Amino acid sequence: MTPQTLILESHGPVALIRLNRPEALNALNAQVLTELIAALAAFQTDEAVRAVVLTGSQKAFAAGADVKEMQALDFATIYKGDFLSGWAEVAGFRKPIIAAVAGFALGGGCELAMMCDMIFADTSAKFGQPEISLGIIPGMGGTQRLIRAVGKAKAMDLVLTGRMMDAEEAERAGLVARILPPESLIDEALKAAAKIASFSQPAVLMAKEAVASAAELSLNEGLHLERRLFQSLFATQDQKEGMAAFIEKRKATFTDR
Ligand code: CAA
Repeated sequence: MTPQTLILESHGPVALIRLNRPEALNALNAQVLTELIAALAAFQTDEAVRAVVLTGSQKAFAAGADVKEMQALDFATIYKGDFLSGWAEVAGFRKPIIAAVAGFALGGGCELAMMCDMIFADTSAKFGQPEISLGIIPGMGGTQRLIRAVGKAKAMDLVLTGRMMDAEEAERAGLVARILPPESLIDEALKAAAKIASFSQPAVLMAKEAVASAAELSLNEGLHLERRLFQSLFATQDQKEGMAAFIEKRKATFTDR
């Protein structure tokens, strides 16, 4: 089914997802979540898709979970339904995914960007966790992923005061990988995704898995996992091809085998 809240574009091996609820600054309601899960599930199994870019509009990546949808909810309903738990499916996407952020990335919007593997921001980007001003706290990872990205000092500052951080501060703090001019944000994100897509997919997936696991594991467990993944890549033809191509001074032709 064609999604109503997303625009999906194909750019060679890269799928571009544009959040598209302009009337609500891309606020993340149940429909967005359902459609995003469906789109990512399709990209997961589609061999032609090797990387994804997720973006919003010039004004907003996403201004948070949908406050109008949440306002009337009561504890029993959201507890029994484990409200927001579906976002784990988005965070569990296995292929590389880049968030290209322009404008507001607030609350759930900032949390969604942090579920991605890296964030490219244009100079208009504003990040924040303003939930405290609504009488709640972040619920899609803001208290957990933010501290891992920027450390306790800045995470506490943002979560407790609800203030916004601009792109420069976010890059300095380690939340943002690259700052770009607005006119080249999407192109640069697509270019980086295409570059990733050009490499051996098993290596890319393992690289992502290894880096992502660092947030969950002790240093020794993480080093152990990294070493095992590293060793396992020597079972691939792409390791032979990549190293042969280097030695023969030619471009590697990877087959994902
Ligand atoms: N949910 C629902 N609607 C939203 C929304 C949100 N999170 N953010 C913006 N909108 C709507 C506004 O209500 C407005 O709709 P109407 O025209 O019908 O009034 C429309 O989008 C445009 O917004 P503004 O008129 O407010 O635009 P602005 O430029 O004046 O301000 C803004 C922009 C500073 C981002 C402001 O919209 C804002 O503060 N939004 C809410 C941010 C927020 O609190 N986010 C956290 C949500 S809670 C959450 O995310 C919990 C979690 O962890 C999962």
